[in-house]
Amino acid sequence: MAEPIRVVITGAAGQIAYSLLYSIAKGDVFGKDQPIVLILLDIPPMLPVLDGVVMELQDCALPLLREVIPTDKVEVGFKDIDAAILVGSMPRKEGMERKDLLKANVAIFKTQGAALDKYAKKTVKVLVVGNPANTNCLIASKSAPSIPKENFSCLTRLDHNRACSQVAMRCNVSSDAVKNVIIWGNHSSTQYPDVHHAKVKVQDSELPAYDVVKDDAWLRGPFISTVQQRGAAVIKARKLSSAMSAAKAICDHMRDIWFGTKEGEFISMGVYAAGNSYGVPQDLMYSFPVCIKNKMWKIVDGLPINDFSQAKMDATAAELVEERDTALDFLSQ
Ligand code: NAD
Ligand code: LMR
Repeated sequence: MAEPIRVVITGAAGQIAYSLLYSIAKGDVFGKDQPIVLILLDIPPMLPVLDGVVMELQDCALPLLREVIPTDKVEVGFKDIDAAILVGSMPRKEGMERKDLLKANVAIFKTQGAALDKYAKKTVKVLVVGNPANTNCLIASKSAPSIPKENFSCLTRLDHNRACSQVAMRCNVSSDAVKNVIIWGNHSSTQYPDVHHAKVKVQDSELPAYDVVKDDAWLRGPFISTVQQRGAAVIKARKLSSAMSAAKAICDHMRDIWFGTKEGEFISMGVYAAGNSYGVPQDLMYSFPVCIKNKMWKIVDGLPINDFSQAKMDATAAELVEERDTALDFLSQ
């Protein structure tokens, strides 16, 4: 058997983590023959809850799970880690302005980025989930200059899965019959879910999604707004934000980093924009279509983009630029 890998999950006492830990600990993400040491990081008041989570993980009697370490200390949490899933962040509280929220999260992701820089392996793969995920990810990366920017990504796979599922339900096919949808930009309501390059498998043929759906008005209207607003719709219904589906998306994202994407398929993730793809300004964490091989992502370049799409891609980029500039002001304070 391989040596255990060390995986930290922050916000480990929260609801996403509660849906996520079992899948990771039983090998769904890093492989069925990969032993794991799980490190659970949360803030001091949550340590008693973490103790309960540790007990439950032990009670699952999972053979791959070699050790579980609960902690509220970044120097313990990030020590020699191979993968980091940064779920914990400051939630918006009543009366809190968007700027206040950003300020609180800049402080968290600056600290955690610095701790990654100091304590983690330089090969660590970092996935940021806590909102605002793209900008938190950028701040963490900037605070960890010794770790390649390419090792950081943020979660837009939930939006990607939502888009696949909406198309699949519309076409009355299973969700795995839909591939190559794209989420462009921010994990926010300005994101642009795009199916111009998506394919739907019908019997043995893969056909363009637009041809199978046969309803351009739906694809350009309600489909986009449903995916953009899905997080808010779940919060309205559940009085809590998505957790089961977020955990599933985290597993999909990290498994694809570890094992690569399938031949001929791309998925969506927020990655560093270097300023040479699709007119997206540089120095943002922007969601692109990517392929992954040998644990390295590559943006799928050269897809034809029409004016409708370009306008939406630019709008979500503009929001990210504004968010980044505000966050960088806080970072320099
Ligand atoms: P939750 O409130 O249930 O749990 C968050 C946990 O993070 C809490 O236990 C809290 O104590 C902890 N935490 C706060 N600050 C921390 C810090 N500095 N270090 C370590 N832990 C810290 O929230 P949740 O439902 O699990 O959601 C977590 C985050 O994920 C939220 O920001 C949410 O908006 C976001 N989210 C993102 C996506 C996405 O697709 N990117 C999807 C769903 C939710
Ligand atoms: C989601 O997409 O479900 C979440 O990001 C929503 C939220 O604001 O937590």
